[in-house]
Formats: sequence, structure tokens, C-alpha cells
Amino acid sequence: MEKILQVKDLNISFHTFAGEVKAIRGVSFDLHKGETLAIVGESGSGKSVTTKSIMRLLPSNNAEIKSGEILFGDIDIVKASERKMQSIRGKDISMIFQDPMTSLNPTMTIGKQIMEPLLKHQHMHKNEAKKRAIELLKLVGIPKAEIRFKQYPHQFSGGMRQRVVIAIALACNPKVLIADEPTTALDVTIQAQILELMKDLQSKIDTSIIFITHDLGVVANVADRVAVMYGGKIVEIGTVDEIFYNPKHPYTWGLISSMPSLDARDAELYAIPGTPPDLLNPPTGDAFAPRNQYALKIDLEKEPPMFKVSDTHYAATWLLHPDAPKVEPPAAVKKRMYKFKGAKTTPVKEDK
Ligand SMILES: Nc1ncnc2c1ncn2[C@@H]1O[C@H](COP(=O)(O)OP(=O)(O)O)[C@@H](O)[C@H]1O
Ligand SMILES: [Mg+2]
Repeated sequence: MEKILQVKDLNISFHTFAGEVKAIRGVSFDLHKGETLAIVGESGSGKSVTTKSIMRLLPSNNAEIKSGEILFGDIDIVKASERKMQSIRGKDISMIFQDPMTSLNPTMTIGKQIMEPLLKHQHMHKNEAKKRAIELLKLVGIPKAEIRFKQYPHQFSGGMRQRVVIAIALACNPKVLIADEPTTALDVTIQAQILELMKDLQSKIDTSIIFITHDLGVVANVADRVAVMYGGKIVEIGTVDEIFYNPKHPYTWGLISSMPSLDARDAELYAIPGTPPDLLNPPTGDAFAPRNQYALKIDLEKEPPMFKVSDTHYAATWLLHPDAPKVEPPAAVKKRMYKFKGAKTTPVKEDK
């Protein structure tokens, strides 16, 4: 399969008053043409930092890419000039952020804002750009596009604004679209509509998508593959089916167990005990060990490598070592496993 993006052994730190925060610790993954890769993990696991580095949008004052490569075609984004990045950003790789309000300019009509990348990157004539902008508004499901084109962001609801942001991101037919928790700031019904739109777009465009979410529940319906992040690392990666039906890492088990099930009797939610690792002083062994009821002695001493489960499925847990005791996923995971297939997306309201 054609690789659009290859992230290789990426290490990123932030220099803070408290010391060096080792936010990304050896992250590697490929993004294939036309696929949607979801990156999931608790808050602070490194999802946003990873994707900001792909856009080269890390804060310049304290962020440092210590090592690694981000290959986009024959360009290494880590080393590319800022000028090169300006020609890539918003054209070849574009991004949708969580809060549609901060991504839009309140003083400019949304039509102008959609036309901007078309004039800048595609060098379109004004009339041509206007025509394309209206097409884009229709593509993202905004009714009365011709009228809406002339309106300002405050005249749009939150969900409609996020549609506009998506239209802007798609304007130049990017090869990669990064959506960083695109529905988290929206209310439940609107979340479902935006997810529906993302799914619908997948079938209409051939852009590869990186979809970031802390909510595993939305993943089953939108992603082809899933990367699970913990403490600045990818701890498990596989196809959606592999992650939901044959999860291997106890952290993935924890995430699955904490998903609300469709069963109303399961009103009480499981939460993974403990807190994420301190990235100022990352642990020597498996960073999840202190929260892992299945932790082995070696977990505290030595970092597990990525064990191969299948050609598409890898997990970093010592439980996959041939000499490790055989451990089955907990009942809560098994109970949820058979429920995913065909399940409708049931987004859960984020408590902020
Ligand atoms: N500007 C920054 N300065 C210092 N630390 C940061 C900065 N941005 C992110 N971090 C740290 O990097 C880690 C990963 O953050 P992030 O990628 O935003 O997590 P996620 O998106 O998964 O919630 C966190 O420990 C966070 O505190
Ligand atoms: Mg984030």
C-alpha cells in the first residue's frame, strides 16, 4: 500500500521551568493512501504534539524535535525550511482543530475564508475560487451555500462552523487531513452529525485522514486503523477489527472497558485507575506498569519492544513474550467486543 506519510522514531521534548518534558518518545507509524488512521489515548498521551509536529506547528520557544523523521514523499518535514512548510501547510497537509471558533476569523465572511487557500495555493481567479468555495460548502452539507457564502462566522451555529472549517481544510484537496478532536467541543447530536460528515467525505475524497480522539467509541465507525498512545508512545497499533476484537495491550483493554456500552444496565463506568506517567521523569520500564494489574516483574525494569501480532497488528507489552503467562482480556472487554460491529456511533458528551 502506498505510504503517504512515514513517521520514524520521533522524539520530542519541551523545555520547561520544571525540566525537560519528554512528550514524544520514539513514535513510528505510516499513513497509507486513502485510509483513516485514528490516534487514541488519554489526555496528555501525546496525540496533539505528534500531529502538530507533522504540520511543524510546535511552539518554537520551548519545543524541540530531538530526533526522528517525518517523511512526506521525499521531504523530511523535520528538516524542511519554513518556506517549504508554508507551501505544504493548508495545501498538501491541512488540519482541523477542536474549536471551530478559534480557527475562523470573525471579521471575514466565510466565503472569503474558504477562497483564501484557493487564491494562495492554487492561484485561482476570484470567480473560479468563488465557484469552488460554494461547491465546498455544499460538499460539507451546508444548505443555501450561495447565501451562506456571504455570511460571517457568528451567523453560523457551532456545528455549521465546524463544517466551514472542514471545507477550508479540504479546499486544496490535501493529501493528508489531520482532525484533532474535531467533535469534542460540540454537543452530542452535532458530534454525531460531524462524524457522519467525516465518514461521508471519506467515500468522496481520496485524502488520507489522521483522526485524533480520546474517545474510543467514535473510532469504530470512522477509522480503518487505530494507534493507541500512552505516555508519549504508541503502545498498540492495528486495524479497527484487530484493536476491538483482539486487543493485546492492557492499556487498550482499559480504554475499551471505559467505553460506555449500549447496554443501559452498564450505567456505571469503568475508569483506568491511577494517573499517566510523569514525562519529566519517564519510568524505565513499561510506563503503564504502575496502573496495570497484569504487570510482570520485567515491566518495571525493561521497556517492552513492539511485538508482532500480525502483519498489521503490533503491541508493546511483555505479555506477548513467548515466556509470559497467558492472560485473557478482562470480562468487561470481552463483553464489549461483540457489540462494536454494526453499532451506531454513540458519542459521549465530554466533561471539560
Ligand atoms: N507547550 C508545551 N509546553 C510544555 N509541555 C507541553 C506543551 N505542549 C504539550 N506539552 C506536554 O506534552 C504532553 C503531550 O501533550 P498533548 O500532545 O497535547 O496530549 P494529548 O493531545 O494526547 O492530550 C503532555 O504531557 C503535555 O503536558
Ligand atoms: Mg490534544
